[in-house]
Amino acid sequence: MKVTVVGAGAVGASCAEYIAIKDFASEVVLLDIKEGYAEGKAMDLMQTASLNGFDTKITGITNDYSLTADSDICVITSGIPRKPGMTREELIGINAGIVKTVASSLIAHSPNTIIIVVSNPMDTMTYLVHKSTNLPKNRIIGMGGALDSARFKYRLAEALDAPISDVDGMVIGGHSDTGMVPLTSHATRNSVKVSEFLSEERLEQVAADTKVGGATLTKLLGTSAWYAPGAAVSGLVQAIACDQKKLFPCSTLLEGEYQLEDICIGVPVILGKNGIERIVDIPLSDAEKEHMQASAEGVRKTNGLLEF
Ligand code: 2OP
Repeated sequence: MKVTVVGAGAVGASCAEYIAIKDFASEVVLLDIKEGYAEGKAMDLMQTASLNGFDTKITGITNDYSLTADSDICVITSGIPRKPGMTREELIGINAGIVKTVASSLIAHSPNTIIIVVSNPMDTMTYLVHKSTNLPKNRIIGMGGALDSARFKYRLAEALDAPISDVDGMVIGGHSDTGMVPLTSHATRNSVKVSEFLSEERLEQVAADTKVGGATLTKLLGTSAWYAPGAAVSGLVQAIACDQKKLFPCSTLLEGEYQLEDICIGVPVILGKNGIERIVDIPLSDAEKEHMQASAEGVRKTNGLLEF
């Protein structure tokens, strides 16, 4: 199993690290445009192998896509991250050109690859990969919901004063401060609805804190977060590599599901060796439906800025 991660910045390197630590891939290739940077990160990570107990081989490459050939899974983290006060949508001008070039360079050397898009604005970048390549829809996956759901569970556990392992919950919709749809009514604490423990006001606060999860960290860190994004990507990669048939919310091309068409947005999917093996169309409450449609409006507005 060969996995390529494009972009050796904080998110790409964390992603490579978590994949290596989980020790399911034979090789991780880290590629960056900056001379020597990916090589340095790969060497540093390889020097953790004996300490962290993994055998995955991590190789660093400066912009030579021929060395990514025959990758089973490729992750695109390239582009600029947001700065404090910026929205993810504001990155489109620079990141669209980068993501389009990276996707076509990857596919030229790995025509059978599955692509995971992480670059922001992620739902629009996922749509761009659909529009600019001929990959089937099951092989293009946007990473946002897995991260947003992890942030939702963190906030729920905090509000409940419960261990995270007791908590389950999911965020669908667009990966943006206003587009996320935390499914509060479906969230549980060990099978008991969280509304049994938390007031409506507290749950609204949990949802609000979840939606600005990335912005809160960007303000604290001066750039966007990397540990949770890297861990979320590694979870998707593992589900595909190990054919786990796990359910994650991911951005995928919808063709009528959730009453939406011709848009990539976060919905629950089953991930296995073929990438997205099934879209799970769950019933939503009227408020959640309304929220999802508004979220899609926002994603479409950003998609409208794309030039093909
Ligand atoms: C985040 O939310 C990077 O979009 C990513 O942290």
